[in-house]
Amino acid sequence: MKSIKIVGTGSALPEKILTNFDLEKMVDTSDAWIVERTGIRQRRIADENTATSDLVAIAIERACAQAGLKPAELDTIIVATSTPDTVYPATACWVQKRLGIAGSAAFDISAGCSGFLFALEVAANLIVAGTAKKVAVAGGEVMSKVVNWKDRATCVLFGDGAGVAIVVPGDGKSGILSSNWGCDGNLAPLLYQPAGGTRLPTSEKTVKEMAHTVHMEGNQVFKHAVRAMGGAALRALSEARISAQDVKLFIPHQANMRIMEAARERTGIPFEKMFVVLDRYGNMSAATIPVAIDEARSQGLIQDGDILLLTAFGTGFTWAAAVFRW
Ligand code: ACO
Repeated sequence: MKSIKIVGTGSALPEKILTNFDLEKMVDTSDAWIVERTGIRQRRIADENTATSDLVAIAIERACAQAGLKPAELDTIIVATSTPDTVYPATACWVQKRLGIAGSAAFDISAGCSGFLFALEVAANLIVAGTAKKVAVAGGEVMSKVVNWKDRATCVLFGDGAGVAIVVPGDGKSGILSSNWGCDGNLAPLLYQPAGGTRLPTSEKTVKEMAHTVHMEGNQVFKHAVRAMGGAALRALSEARISAQDVKLFIPHQANMRIMEAARERTGIPFEKMFVVLDRYGNMSAATIPVAIDEARSQGLIQDGDILLLTAFGTGFTWAAAVFRW
């Protein structure tokens, strides 16, 4: 076991709610189609002045308050995001600026929707190695600013938000019982943002062609997601020697209810144990799992000793899973 403890959680969601009915007025879609195909009913949308670091900074303040820490006491800030404030520096650096702190290590992890679990794994290893002692592990996204609002196949799926866990060394009772992660880069073209990097720098042409927005082969992503998320979760359970009955809560990455359901069925975990925020927040990419953890904990659903099964897939094509004892 990697002995770590989550001593605080926090989340930040923009106030503005965009419902499926609002979307009906923007593109050729319907509430019925979106609910049936995805399970999403509404999502939060950041205002024009809000970037990913703003949401992450608020979530860190809330998580630190719960942990009884000041943000200045953190020695490491890791932000998992696919929607950074800027190409460089890392969003974690802008988070420091927003919090008015300096000195801690601060870096981003780009692993799409698997990003929070990648960041948690990195944090756990830094702690076990003795490199870090007070780590803010964040997943934050402002997907609404990289979505093509004229493309009904993608714009109905995403939402904005951030979630944070404050991770410290454990006392041998709590931590990651097992985890796995991976990537198949050959599948990268299935879901990506073509322009704005060194492959296709931003130009008048790329903007005109909306190449700076999400491009996705939805059906292909769906197929690989089901396989990757379910497979990673099953491996994590088996390596931890934990049965489906021992799991208190199943928190998968929340992209589509049908993908989550398929993964849950493969693990044999009952439906009531799956914690869902997707209907209210949409796919917040790296933020869905930490926001869900924060909400579950706030509702009193997570107590010391409880076993959580976390699993995710995302652009890359990445996947990850962890069995975590609280
Ligand atoms: N409203 C109404 N009709 C729509 C919409 C919409 N919003 N979007 C697509 N359609 C239409 C299509 O045009 C198609 O019409 P046609 O049959 O006349 O050609 C029909 O609905 C069916 O389209 P499909 O793409 O086959 O629908 P599907 O059941 O596969 O659902 C969806 C589409 C929801 C996108 C699904 O494929 C999916 O969820 N894929 C995974 C996406 C995902 O999880 N992405 C996030 C990845 S994680 C990350 O790292 C960001």
